[in-house]
Amino acid sequence: MNLLSILKKFLFIQNLVSSFVASIHSYLDLTIGKYQAIKKAMFITAHDETYGSYIEFGIFTGSSFNFAMKINNKIEKFFGISKCDFYGFDSFNGFGKVKDEDNHPRFQDSIFSVDEKKILKNIKKCSRGQSYKIIKGFYNETLKDKKPEDYGIKKARVIMIDCDLKEPTELALNFSKSVLQKGTIILFDDYIYYKGNENKGEFGAFKRFKNENPNLKFREAFEYGYGSRAFIVTEV
Ligand SMILES: C[S@@+](CC[C@H](N)C(=O)[O-])C[C@H]1O[C@@H](n2cnc3c(N)ncnc32)[C@H](O)[C@@H]1O
Repeated sequence: MNLLSILKKFLFIQNLVSSFVASIHSYLDLTIGKYQAIKKAMFITAHDETYGSYIEFGIFTGSSFNFAMKINNKIEKFFGISKCDFYGFDSFNGFGKVKDEDNHPRFQDSIFSVDEKKILKNIKKCSRGQSYKIIKGFYNETLKDKKPEDYGIKKARVIMIDCDLKEPTELALNFSKSVLQKGTIILFDDYIYYKGNENKGEFGAFKRFKNENPNLKFREAFEYGYGSRAFIVTEV
């Protein structure tokens, strides 16, 4: 009997498998997808010797930021020391003033307000000697009219954009412009939301950024999580 015949005969198998998949919380799926994407981006850049910093816009509890430091430790054992340093930007209090076009029922300050001290303590614990800097504040203070060099960032290796809305994403992209290099990988974690509207959210911000900077070229590298995307810089 082949597999299809078995499945047709014993329907309880499909019930079991579908119950198992349904029991995995979507948030866990998302998080695992994000970890795998960071792992891929860190591996690809190590393989191509794209040296520079890992920069994350939107660190929240530090889950993806800590993972990036963890995977760098492992990858360095394989490819050698990359001297990657880690920069994280967050208010730890959500979005601040939100424009009308950025309004979304799920992106609310109350969800993203966290105990900063506890998170910083955990980041320190997870860093295991790697060099990192957390820049606290709303992006209209920490990114607008600021340059990466103000914080010691010279080149970007991987940029994780996980700040959900269009305006902070635009601030993050414009801030990062001068440190993009051939091979930098940019991860857009919330690329699909706003009901697919091409002028809103992270998608809308990236679309505008590309129009305003035609000298910069990007190639789609991979898709991950729930509609999240990774792009690699091919021309600067
Ligand atoms: C989805 S969470 C990040 C999740 C995180 N990367 C993780 O994997 O655990 C989005 C974060 O972006 C931050 N954020 C969004 N807009 C911001 C702004 N304008 N200024 C500062 N932080 C902002 C929020 O405070 C929030 O912590």
